[in-house]
Amino acid sequence: MKIFVTRRIPEKGLDLLRKYHDIQVNPENRVLEKYEIIKGLKGMDGLVCLLTDTIDKEIIESESKLKMIANYAVGYNNIDVESATSQGIPVSNTPGVLTDATSEMAWALLFAVARRIVESDQFTRDGHFNGWDPMLLHGLDIKGKTLGVIGAGRIGTAFALKSKGFAMNVLYTDEERNQVLEEELQAEKVSLETLLQDSDFISIHVPLNDLTYHLIGEKEFQMMKKDAVLVNTSRGPVVDEQALIQVLKEKRIFGAGLDVYEHEPSVPDELINLDNVVLQPHSASATVNSRTDMAIMAAKNMIAGLKGEIPPNCVNPEIFDKK
Ligand code: GLV
Ligand code: GLV
Repeated sequence: MKIFVTRRIPEKGLDLLRKYHDIQVNPENRVLEKYEIIKGLKGMDGLVCLLTDTIDKEIIESESKLKMIANYAVGYNNIDVESATSQGIPVSNTPGVLTDATSEMAWALLFAVARRIVESDQFTRDGHFNGWDPMLLHGLDIKGKTLGVIGAGRIGTAFALKSKGFAMNVLYTDEERNQVLEEELQAEKVSLETLLQDSDFISIHVPLNDLTYHLIGEKEFQMMKKDAVLVNTSRGPVVDEQALIQVLKEKRIFGAGLDVYEHEPSVPDELINLDNVVLQPHSASATVNSRTDMAIMAAKNMIAGLKGEIPPNCVNPEIFDKK
């Protein structure tokens, strides 16, 4: 069968796909326009896409042969899953293989903000280091502080568990109790309001959907401590970016670490001009191993889906009940 891949992913995934099928990979290293995806999809049985591709109803319905969509990401808010489901097309994601990489990036951002690493690096490069200075670049302590984890799924859980060496008081929000966190860390499930009021460090680990859009906005910022640190490695629109910019400008929290933005790939100049924010280019899962494993996982899902089997990481498995 024929598979369209919207952008080059690590070779191991492509090699696996080539063993079973014919593949067409976008030859250019850029995000395709919608019309280019529709063109590329012509006559194809499978689509491997990225979180930067908006796969809407029109694209999904543009090729009647389309049998499987494998997203190269754990988040799949970029795909109109409902439309795929109504066409009987399975959609898969890549959970698990990026859990450590992503939660480690959340820690990297937390440390970078708390200890002002980027600002200090720039200071040193600019030649301002004139010797040890008792008053220079004071940051925040981490040990013994309160850690607030918004969303205790795979990544949120892994992130919280990594706090063990820092003897933190861990609070979390989730729809369900998390036994692992409660047993291993004596973590406490609390309301979002309590978490925001009591946490020194807050890290977001929820998927983007109607319930989490602008979960953190002006009202929520008002509840935070004045030296709170906010870290977001989930999806940009979970935070009201304009509200965040205002809060950072007015120094109403200590700082923020962001891997994601509300209107990617745009990063507002206001953020770029602030010292109290550390910015990453949506690269939390970007380790050699994670990105390779994601490619293999997407390929395995595609291969299973094209055989008519339930892909191992299917996000709409209900379509197989009907078949
Ligand atoms: C990255 O953001 C992913 O969802 O995999
Ligand atoms: C995180 O949610 C993961 O899929 O690993």
